[in-house]
Amino acid sequence: MQITQSISVIVPTYKECENLPELIRRIQKIKERNNLNLELIIVDDNSRDGSEEYIQSLALPWCRIIVRRDERGLSSAVLKGFEEAKGDILIVMDADLSHPPEKIPEFIEQIQQGADMVVGSRYVPGGKTDEEWGIFRWLNSQIATLLARPLTSIKDPMSGFFALPREIYKQSAPLNPTGYKIALELLVKCPIKKTTEIPIFFSQRARGKSKLSIKEQIKYLVHLRRLYFFKYENLTYFFHFSIIGFSGTGVNLLALTVLVFFGIPVRVSVAIAIIIAMLSNFILNRWFTFPHAVKSPWLPQLIGFMGACSLGAVVNYFTVLFLLHLFPLFEKIPQIPALVGILAGLVFNFILSKNFVFRKG
Ligand code: GDD
Ligand code: MN
Repeated sequence: MQITQSISVIVPTYKECENLPELIRRIQKIKERNNLNLELIIVDDNSRDGSEEYIQSLALPWCRIIVRRDERGLSSAVLKGFEEAKGDILIVMDADLSHPPEKIPEFIEQIQQGADMVVGSRYVPGGKTDEEWGIFRWLNSQIATLLARPLTSIKDPMSGFFALPREIYKQSAPLNPTGYKIALELLVKCPIKKTTEIPIFFSQRARGKSKLSIKEQIKYLVHLRRLYFFKYENLTYFFHFSIIGFSGTGVNLLALTVLVFFGIPVRVSVAIAIIIAMLSNFILNRWFTFPHAVKSPWLPQLIGFMGACSLGAVVNYFTVLFLLHLFPLFEKIPQIPALVGILAGLVFNFILSKNFVFRKG
């Protein structure tokens, strides 16, 4: 294999000094054996554990360390490395030797064969995670991967070991470096057509501690929500709106039960329960589904929402009447047209809410 392109390996680090000697030794071996035009960029977030001094003492012309003193975060560190990188091919990997540097030539080969993104994967045949991975971490990783499924067909989008041509990175939509999963961000936001996964053996970190905290996992959910909005804008709004609508059904029934329990006449209770559910839907949609709406005054929104929903209720009602008229059979099972009516009302409410009530500035 003849490799002519230049390569930048970016390694984000936070307190990884004790792993650096072996990492660099192994990368150097690959570089020499394959005669690679390779630079190594370590992006350290002010670890103050001797990493900086160590790299400087090596004085290798192909290896440098960037120390960020004002910012902290894995993804933003990777992006910082991308900005500084000179290579035609960008490769990202961890410092703790979970990712075998010996796989680098395979990554390059795949890019040369036309891949826009190559991911080191634990979940393709031949890939493996270290035995010592506890059940909790395994399950956690499985759920996180499942949640990302609609965003990418890659089997291991959580991987932090990946490569892509610089040209592809340059064409990405604006990137948001929150959270841990920079590969997923790039998969969604870069014009990536062809992806390849290379099986890797993900070993237990050599030394030091993992930096993956609960806080990072919550950030992952926020990150996912943002990526869903980016990729499936309307569908994601509708999904959020439906969840709130579902909760509203619960609020309605609960309120109805309580009101009837206190002896309020049924017809009055039904009406009050509907209004309570509409209010609860209004508050939740404004906060959860259309968060941009909190910047605008709430009273006109409330009036608009109630108006839209009452129209939705009419749409719901007439849908049911229409279905009963079309299929007299439904007289015996009115639940079916009622459900269709609820769905029609939901879609109608959604369209009005999104385009008129909570519309963007
Ligand atoms: N610059 C910088 N800033 N680097 C960081 C930071 C930070 O805030 N936090 C973590 N890192 C570096 C670590 O020093 C390490 O080199 C790499 O990012 C991965 O961090 P680990 O703490 O080893 O993460 P992990 O082992 O839990 O996560 C690994 O598995 C995930 C998939 O399950 C990594 O490979 C992740 O990239 C991967 O997503
Ligand atoms: Mn690790």
